[in-house]
Amino acid sequence: MPPRISGRLLEAARQLVAARAADDLDEGRLEAELLYGEAAGWDRVHVLASGAEVPDTAVLGRFETLLLRRLAHEPLAYILGRREFYGLTFEVGPGCLVPRPETETLVEAGLAAIREHPHARRLVRVADVGTGSGAIALSIAHHALQAQVVAIDASSEALAWAGTNRRRLALEGRVVLLTGDLLEPVGEPLDVVLANLPYIPSDEVDALPEVIRSHEPHLAVDGGPDGLDAYRALCAQLPAHLVDGPRAVLVEVGSGQATFAADLLTAALGDTPAPEVRYHRDLAGTRRVVEVRQGYPRN
Ligand SMILES: C[S@@+](CC[C@H](N)C(=O)[O-])C[C@H]1O[C@@H](n2cnc3c(N)ncnc32)[C@H](O)[C@@H]1O
Repeated sequence: MPPRISGRLLEAARQLVAARAADDLDEGRLEAELLYGEAAGWDRVHVLASGAEVPDTAVLGRFETLLLRRLAHEPLAYILGRREFYGLTFEVGPGCLVPRPETETLVEAGLAAIREHPHARRLVRVADVGTGSGAIALSIAHHALQAQVVAIDASSEALAWAGTNRRRLALEGRVVLLTGDLLEPVGEPLDVVLANLPYIPSDEVDALPEVIRSHEPHLAVDGGPDGLDAYRALCAQLPAHLVDGPRAVLVEVGSGQATFAADLLTAALGDTPAPEVRYHRDLAGTRRVVEVRQGYPRN
């Protein structure tokens, strides 16, 4: 009997687990189904409903090519060319970090900081520092109509992806993209600054899974000896770029870095008016986002 689609996908799931491209068989099956869907031009429901069919030869050939790329540890999102983030689809590929689910915590907290800003009924000027694919900046602009966003990255390759996504989401009028070091290229004073900068300590970079180490940009990952180099540099720039009025800074950090980052941010912002520090946990319960507000009304 000729092999069925479901049989080939189960075998592919086992290959992905054996190559450590997937953590377990369920994840392997999901990835195999997504790759087959990509090869066939089908959504996942269509793939699942077609399990008993014999695969088309041309589709099977394309699937085997995509599977080989994944077995060689290329990120699934690079192979598919896209990743869902905060309910939107972002195009991604070599040169930009694949947006992670935990970064949705930063978007959620950032939207609250914009909504609760005393000028929220007018205009809130927001920066996304180290924008990569534009995931944070574009999600914020899409969901907060009062936000005027500037997104900066040191990598022109990453900014090209942000440009593609800005066009796809029709946000050219509300999001400005700039190349440069942190906030340096920004001329306007800012009400809210968001940043997901590299925060992996340098000596942990070599221990990262191959999918990250060999494919995603080093500039997006390595945060120096304790992981906080980029945030120290950002803190040095913050005072000159924030409004002299109600303001908030929110940064994404790694496990165990939250209080250190909070100390850096409060030292940079000063104690007048008194800073209010908040920690936001991701779905795994890790303190993932540090927020410091100044000059907001206290509840
Ligand atoms: C961890 S990635 C985050 C990408 C994106 N914001 C996200 O959340 O998916 C960090 C980004 O910061 C950028 N970056 C690193 N150092 C920078 C610097 N000094 N100035 C501007 N961007 C920088 C990298 O190129 C990379 O795109």
